[in-house]
Formats: sequence, structure tokens, C-alpha cells
Amino acid sequence: KNKIDELEIMAAGQIIKDGGLVAFPTETVYGLGADALSEVGARKIYEAKGRPSDNPLIVHIADRSALEEIVVHMPAETEDLMERFWPGPLTMIFEKSEKVPYGTTGGLNTVAVRMPDDLIARALIIAGGGFIAAPSANTSGRPSPTTAQHVADDLSGKIEMIIDGGSVEIGLESTILDMTVKPPMILRPGAITKEMIEKVIGEITMDQTITNTQSMEHPKAPGMKYRHYAPKAQMIIVEGEMSVAVKAIKQIAFSQVRFGKQVGIIATNETADQYTTGIVKSIGARDNEQSIAKNLYRVLREFDEEMVDYIYSEAFAIKGIGYAVMNRLEKAAGHQIVQAIDIVKTQPFSKIIFVSYNDNSRGPMAAELLRHQELIQEYDIESRGLIALFPEPANPKTEAIMKSQKMTLCNHKAKKLEESDLKEDTLILAMDETVRWKIVTDFEYIKNVYSLGEYAEDTTKIPSVYGQSLAEYGELYEKIKILIEKLANKINDETKKHEKR
Ligand code: TXA
Ligand code: MG
Repeated sequence: KNKIDELEIMAAGQIIKDGGLVAFPTETVYGLGADALSEVGARKIYEAKGRPSDNPLIVHIADRSALEEIVVHMPAETEDLMERFWPGPLTMIFEKSEKVPYGTTGGLNTVAVRMPDDLIARALIIAGGGFIAAPSANTSGRPSPTTAQHVADDLSGKIEMIIDGGSVEIGLESTILDMTVKPPMILRPGAITKEMIEKVIGEITMDQTITNTQSMEHPKAPGMKYRHYAPKAQMIIVEGEMSVAVKAIKQIAFSQVRFGKQVGIIATNETADQYTTGIVKSIGARDNEQSIAKNLYRVLREFDEEMVDYIYSEAFAIKGIGYAVMNRLEKAAGHQIVQAIDIVKTQPFSKIIFVSYNDNSRGPMAAELLRHQELIQEYDIESRGLIALFPEPANPKTEAIMKSQKMTLCNHKAKKLEESDLKEDTLILAMDETVRWKIVTDFEYIKNVYSLGEYAEDTTKIPSVYGQSLAEYGELYEKIKILIEKLANKINDETKKHEKR
């Protein structure tokens, strides 16, 4: 990786000069290169990518003197911007000189120019004659490639050569800055942010269509109007505070999986292990937007291969390159964004806790029985005791009965009910009336506290059988089982009522 193979570069340069196509790494994404000064090269690019030919290409150069040959009327700020950001992930648009054919600029009188930082890219530009037109090396409509394998997956057999430079550094396309307007305007956000540019040349503007997706105007960069970066699955971004977003995604993922759909989840290192359904992929660390930028397109491509029907993605901080990440993510989702809180509030409860005295027999039994019911919504199901002095395992007779029914409580450890267990989203079910009464008198927060019989609308008593024979534990099991079946029906009915609304 990043070691330059001189012979390979020479061969690649010759292909470009002869009018052929070479895919090559840059620090942003892989590019599909052709001679920028020949109409033929541009036409081949459009053909290979299946890209509309009104979508102009970026001309890549390796030194500043090349710029003067292909543009006219460079505004004064250009010098400072080149000094600060070139070589690097900044593309600037100028009025084009006669040297640049309209085939390269999609018929426009302006030309986009970028000087990449990647060593292979720079060597290839020089070997290829100094001016390489290169869009991202993907099939039009697919996520941009960040590895040579991605390029091969899309374009193998359609182009002359692919130079493998390993994984790219940034993972998102360059920032595009239109220098033909005053003040300059960002047409596509990238690793070089608005703030970074403003530190060099003062206030600039941002194409309104980037932030305002409702806008009726066409984006200024023709390529931004297409539904780029689109995964095959329907994609939805779930916005909101981290824990609420996780809850909401779990909820919608569970309901799709229930209908037999394949679900992919774009999570972060901080949240990935909280999901229980779907194919979960961590895209990076929340406090490191760069890591998220780097993995975004790879993850979208993987979900394409896995043929998921839906992709649910967390939203990310819009600071630094995070702004560009969210821009690409929103495009991939066709601007389908939902608020986590709106989803979470459609589900009456997300957690159910059974409470008994010692949390070693009736409660754990009820919890395990409920876990084995067909529920149309996902719940955290747990048990607690009013007095649980140490993490005692389940009662041996209870465990024997459970085993005979092909279940087990072998991992159970008794836990005491705490104030923090009583929450808005938690349904507390006491194993008998006395336990319920104790909870209601001992704790301050007493919403959603019922006895199991009361909630399941069945008056069967479920007394503690502590110290009695195995047969009595067996009878206890049968009683609890009937109540749990009624409970399952009731909570399923409630979910259905909510779904209808
Ligand atoms: O990071 C990058 O910029 C990568 C690597 C390969 O350098 N290239 C890239 O190219 O992303 P492409 O073709 O996928 O995107 C170029 C964008 C398109 O949205 C296009 O419409 C816009 O730049 N563009 C090019 N020339 C333009 C012009 N003269 N006026 C307005 N927009 C222009
Ligand atoms: Mg592209």
C-alpha cells in the first residue's frame, strides 16, 4: 500500500494517453481516470459508469502551473486557498479555458479542478500527461468506492486497469467550492469544512439545496441532484438522543423482522452491542467523525451484498466532516428521517419486570415463560425480588421443573428491586397482591405497578410454594403458565391497537 510501482504507473499513464480508462486511489475515494483534454476519454467515462453526460467531471492536476492552462479569471482568494489546502480534498470551480473540451465539463463554461494528495494519484497524473478527468469509480447510483475491490465489483471488464492502493484515507468525496461567484459557495460538503475555508478567505456561502432538502431549486453542482450513494435497501435515519435512538431502532427492526424482512442497522462502537435483531454494523466511534466517514460507503455496500430490505441508521454529530457524513447519509436515505422519540412513544412498554419475594422461583419462572411466548414487540424481560440479599441462583426444584419443560434458569442470579427499576417504559408485575402492596408502599414511583393476576385479568392465586414438594412446584408452573399466556395475549392486543393508530 502507498508504495509506488513505477512500471505499473508508467503503463497506466500510457493507457490514459491512448484514450483508455484507469481507476486509481485518491485520499478521498477511488477515481476513474481518463485524459481530461480529450472528448473521447470523457465519453468513455460516462459509458463505463452509466452516468448522465450532463454531469461534469473533476479535472485532477499535480502542480499549480497546470491550473493556469485550463482556467481563466482566477479570483484573488485562489492563491491562499491553494497554499492552505492543495494538495488535498478541495475541488475548486473556475471559468474554463479553451483547452478543456465541453465533453469534460458536461457542456458548461466552468471546470472543476482538484489537486489530490495521494502519491499514486499524483504519479499517475504526471505519467498520464498532467490532466486527468476523474469521477468516483463507481457505477452511477452506487456508493463511491473506498477500496480497489469496490471498483472491481462495479467496473471490472469495463475499464483497462485498476491500481490498488489499499483503503482510502478519508472515505468521502472532496469539498467542492465554486470560485466563479462572490463570495465563493460550497456546492458539496467534504473533509475541508466551511469553517476551515472561512479561516483563510473570510465568509463564504453554502448551496441552499444542501441544507434545505425541501428547496425547489436545482443544486448548483449537477451531480448533487441525482440520488447518489443509494443503497438497494430502503433506508431510514433515526434522529435523537443516543439511548432513545437505540430504543427506536430496536423497535422498528423487531417489527420488520417479525414480518420476515431482512434488516441492517448502522450503529456505532458505543451502541452496537445493544441491538438484538438484524445485521448490526458499527460504523465507527461517535466522538471520531473521521472514523465514521471512512466506513460509511463500505457499510452501505456490504448491506447491498447482504440484500437487506431495510437499513436503519443512527444519526451522527454534524461537526467537522460529520456535516458531510450526514449529507451523504441523508441522500442515501432519500431524505427519510424520523425522530426516535416519535417511534418510542408508540410503544406502551419496552421492559417487563416480574417481582417476587426472593427472586429465585416464581418471578424468574414467569420471566422465562414470557420470553418463550410469541410477542409481536420486543421487550426486555427480567425479574426482581423484594429481598434478595445475594445473587442466589434459582431454586433447584424450580430449575428441575423448567428443565422438564425444555427451559432453564441456570444463569439466573437473584436481584433486589431498586427505585431505578421503576421507569416510565417499564411494566412492573408483582407475583401476588402482597408483593404489589409492598412495592406500592415502599417506593415513591408507583406508575405501571400491577399484580400479574390483575394485569392478565385472571384471579388464579400464585402463592409461594417455598419448601414444598416437587409436585407442588409443578402445579405452580402450570398456574403461572396460564397467566403468562393470558398476559402475552393482552400485551400483543395492546401493541396491535397502537399499530393501528
Ligand atoms: O473526491 C473527489 O472529488 C472524487 C475523487 C475521485 O477525486 N471525485 C468525485 O467526482 O467525487 P464525481 O464526478 O463523483 O463528482 C463530481 C461532482 C459532481 O457532483 C459534479 O456535478 C460536480 O462535481 N461538478 C463538476 N464540475 C462542475 C462544474 N463545472 N460546475 C458545477 N459542478 C461541477
Ligand atoms: Mg460520484
